[in-house]
Amino acid sequence: MRTAVYPGSFDPITIGHLDIIERASRLFDQVIVLVSRNPDKSPFFTVDARLGFISRAIAALPNVSADAFSGLLADYLKQRKATAIIKGLRAVSDFEYEFQMALANKTLDPAAETIFLAAQAKNMYLSSSLVRQIGALGGSIKGLVPVEIENDIQTALQEEIS
Ligand code: PNS
Repeated sequence: MRTAVYPGSFDPITIGHLDIIERASRLFDQVIVLVSRNPDKSPFFTVDARLGFISRAIAALPNVSADAFSGLLADYLKQRKATAIIKGLRAVSDFEYEFQMALANKTLDPAAETIFLAAQAKNMYLSSSLVRQIGALGGSIKGLVPVEIENDIQTALQEEIS
């Protein structure tokens, strides 16, 4: 059983994330989408809200599940006997930070391999922060987040400005 973990803030999950999840689900027996703590960020959505959005977005993918963890990713991997970390790369600018994290995770858990999947060209510009900004300023986030959760995310972001 090959298990991969796809960690991130997912604040909120976008169609770019979902594309990476779908592609990883074809490469591994099991994929866990892990809402993780990024000490450099203050999330807009609660962990429970982010998990709820992810769970609805992955409902049609039988070998994908969602979880949350506030500790070190390397410790979570060992707990779940996962051997791969999935990361999506959008641009060269993502690479230095991601490479640093891959090396740190390899030091903390030598069994862990970080696998980078290249974003599709149509998703290169997309990020959770862009979605939050567009939604909070009253723009439509249609087509930027999974369709099942579009209305709920739009409403939550719009409540922020009203
Ligand atoms: O979506 P993000 O915010 O870019 O994801 C970053 C994240 C959450 C994957 C990273 O901060 C992380 O792995 N956090 C877990 C804590 C940890 O293990 N930190 C050391 C990683 S080298």
